[in-house]
Formats: sequence, C-alpha cells, structure tokens
Amino acid sequence: MTFDILTLFPGMFDGPLTESILKRAAENGLISVRCHNIRDYATDRHRTADDSPYGGGTGMVMKVEPLAGCIEAVKAERPRAKVILASPRGRTFTQQMARELAAEPGLIIICGRYEGVDERVSDLYVDHEISLGDFVLTGGELAAMIIVDAVSRFVPGVLGGAGAAQTDSFSDGLLEYPQYTRPTEYRGLAVPELLLSGNHAEIARWRRRQSLLKTRRIRPDLLASADLTDKELRWLAELDRQDEAG
Ligand SMILES: C[S@@+](CC[C@H](N)C(=O)[O-])C[C@H]1O[C@@H](n2cnc3c(N)ncnc32)[C@H](O)[C@@H]1O
Repeated sequence: MTFDILTLFPGMFDGPLTESILKRAAENGLISVRCHNIRDYATDRHRTADDSPYGGGTGMVMKVEPLAGCIEAVKAERPRAKVILASPRGRTFTQQMARELAAEPGLIIICGRYEGVDERVSDLYVDHEISLGDFVLTGGELAAMIIVDAVSRFVPGVLGGAGAAQTDSFSDGLLEYPQYTRPTEYRGLAVPELLLSGNHAEIARWRRRQSLLKTRRIRPDLLASADLTDKELRWLAELDRQDEAG
C-alpha cells in the first residue's frame, strides 16, 4: 500500500510514521509513505503556494497550480491511487472508511493549510474529502498521519495477529470490551475472575456483554446500526426497562 502525502511541511512526518508498527510495516515493504513538498511545484521565483482569497476575507488560500502540478506528477506514477483532501468539510473518518481505503492500491493525501485550498483542486482531482471531526486543525498534516495510521492497520500483515484489527472497537459496530494484564490486583482493583479461568467460551461471552454495556453507556448511538442478535436486543431492552423503573 502506498501513501503519497502532499504537504507544505514534509518535516512534520519525520517522527510519527517511522516508529513502532508503521516503521516495521515500511521495512517489510507492506506500506510505503512518501512526502512531496507542494512548494516544489510552484513556478514563480518566490515559490508561492498561497494567495489572498477572491471576494476578500482573512487569511490565505492554497493556490491551484502548485497543487495541480504536484498531484499530476504523483498520479503519473500511481494512476490508480485515490486522491484524498483532508478537510473539516469532508465526511467524518470512520473505521469502516479506513477498512475500505486499505483495499485501494494507493492513496494520495493533500494536506491543506491557511484558510484552505482553492475549490478547483477538489473539482478537478479529489475523490474523497475526509474530516477527522467537527473541529478545525491548523493544517491537514495531523489528519494525514491519522489516516495513514488507521488505514495501515487494515493492510494484511501490518498487525502481528491475523485479523487483529477485526476485534478493535467499531469493527463489529461496538466499542471494545475492557482489557487487563498483570498484575491480577492493583490498588484494590482486581481483574475479573472469569478472565483467569481459561474458559474461552465463557470469556468470549463476557467480552461480548461488556462490549454491549460499554457501548450502551458511552456511545448508545452505535447500537442502532450494530449487528445484534435477538437475544442481545431483548437483554438491552430489559436493561432500559430496569433503568426507567429506577
Ligand atoms: C485552518 S484549516 C482551514 C479551515 C477552513 N477555513 C474551514 O473553516 O473549513 C487548514 C487545513 O487544515 C486541515 N484541517 C483542519 N481541520 C480539519 C479536520 N477536522 N479534518 C481534516 N483536516 C482538517 C485541512 O486540510 C484544512 O484545509
């Protein structure tokens, strides 16, 4: 899986993508991350990549020509890669999107800066605008790093255990169950007895119930689209009834 990052600040990517799991994935040839400096595609002698907005207003807007040059140069090498613009106006990034994007042959991620990017970049080149959430960052670089990280987890071989990403939160529409490791007791808080029992069927049942309880408490909105059995739906309804009864 190849990631091409288009940015005015390539130095920002030196640390975060070259440690731990992603470092190993790159060393093993499972992913490759290349940064391209958009300014290298500016044609004037000041290497201008931004200009003031038509219609007035504060701040600067990233110019279309340097971005177009950069995108076209990368696309010439990777014609099948999808072009993503990090943008607060995009669809909110989810685990499901990360899984789908991991099936693409490559991603070209544009990092906006200043007040954003000339709209014609989206009109001409962008396949998906992706937002990290309803807040505004100073630039798209952190968003790009997060997209690379989350997508890479779905690239076969990147995570150690087979299908490890499949049991993470959101993969079955629910939040993940609580996890514990040694010691068995810490400051009066004991690891649930059942997890020490070695009874894998019971442990799986306990984890599923804990997932349901956690999701119900913290993200009840997820339950509406989660894949639940009739028995689970009845159990959740019973919990709601008990809550209402006081
Ligand atoms: C300061 S922001 C521009 C915000 C823009 N004026 C607006 O109000 O929508 C600069 C760049 O940061 C990135 N960015 C900011 N917030 C983001 C978010 N929530 N998700 C993804 N990218 C974001 C985008 O690439 C954006 O072009």
